[in-house]
Amino acid sequence: MQIRHLISIKHLSNKFVEKLLKSAREMEAHPEAFADRAKGKILADLFFEPSTRTRLSFESAMLRLGGNMLGFSSPKGTSVEKGESLADTIRMAHSYADIIVLRHYIEGAGRVAAEISNVPVISGGTGSQEHPTQALLDLYTIWKHHGRFSNLKIAIVGDLRYGRTVPSLSYVLSLFPNNKIYFCSPKQLRVRREVLSEIEGKVEYEELEDLEEVLPKIDVAYITRVQKERFPDPQDYLKVRDSYVITPKTLGNVKESFILLHPLPRVGEISYEVDKLPQAKYFEQAKNGVYVRMAILDYFLNYPWEV
Ligand code: NCD
Repeated sequence: MQIRHLISIKHLSNKFVEKLLKSAREMEAHPEAFADRAKGKILADLFFEPSTRTRLSFESAMLRLGGNMLGFSSPKGTSVEKGESLADTIRMAHSYADIIVLRHYIEGAGRVAAEISNVPVISGGTGSQEHPTQALLDLYTIWKHHGRFSNLKIAIVGDLRYGRTVPSLSYVLSLFPNNKIYFCSPKQLRVRREVLSEIEGKVEYEELEDLEEVLPKIDVAYITRVQKERFPDPQDYLKVRDSYVITPKTLGNVKESFILLHPLPRVGEISYEVDKLPQAKYFEQAKNGVYVRMAILDYFLNYPWEV
């Protein structure tokens, strides 16, 4: 069986995820062996929302595989400004490219694109819904440090309501046995019920507000930004903006193997003094995005292995 598009983690198996991350590991260890995998192929980057890491790491991955890319980093300056529909934009992109990476503010945009496109569509994040490739690189980073996909205790912290990396990371953790998620947020930003019903019975979880309470027993803390742009009322954003700020003092009592992750960008949730601590792995996490996205592009362009 082959997977045609990558829009959600929900449709992946743990076998697929493991194979993909093992292939990312190969690419990290021997990048030269993969330098021609995308030779003659073109990636279309269609970014309807701002991005630094997702877009640039996809581009870096495509170049490292010997491919090329075209696209836009904002709908400004494209025919979308004239009122062109997403469907028509996709019809153009699939005639110009062999694979599409789409970031969109509308939930469901990835699915619509996948239905129309003749070439694979990879979601680079849709609304508050999901960000599947981010979850894969998050898990890759965790695996590199802890050497396992299971038996992990992870706190996901911050804006669990609007952050799209949160559902995807929860879904990927729920594919493996004996993981436990601590959803840590202010009441207003609790994880959406539809996400909980998806993971119910697949992974143990707990909702709480006090991060300090769980810090000594967890393997990973995954901090997220409060998503200012997705609040219907800016006043509500101001009330919760500074709910969690990680400083060196916060990490005084963590396990020796503990790591601190963040999908980035950070806007105050982790103080700059934390960067030099051995637990701070968020920049390495961003770098891992290149290898994981190389593996994703290779899979969807070449289907090198069976699921
Ligand atoms: C995230 C996103 O766009 O969802 N960024 C990313 O891709 N690394 C996180 C965020 O914007 O807070």
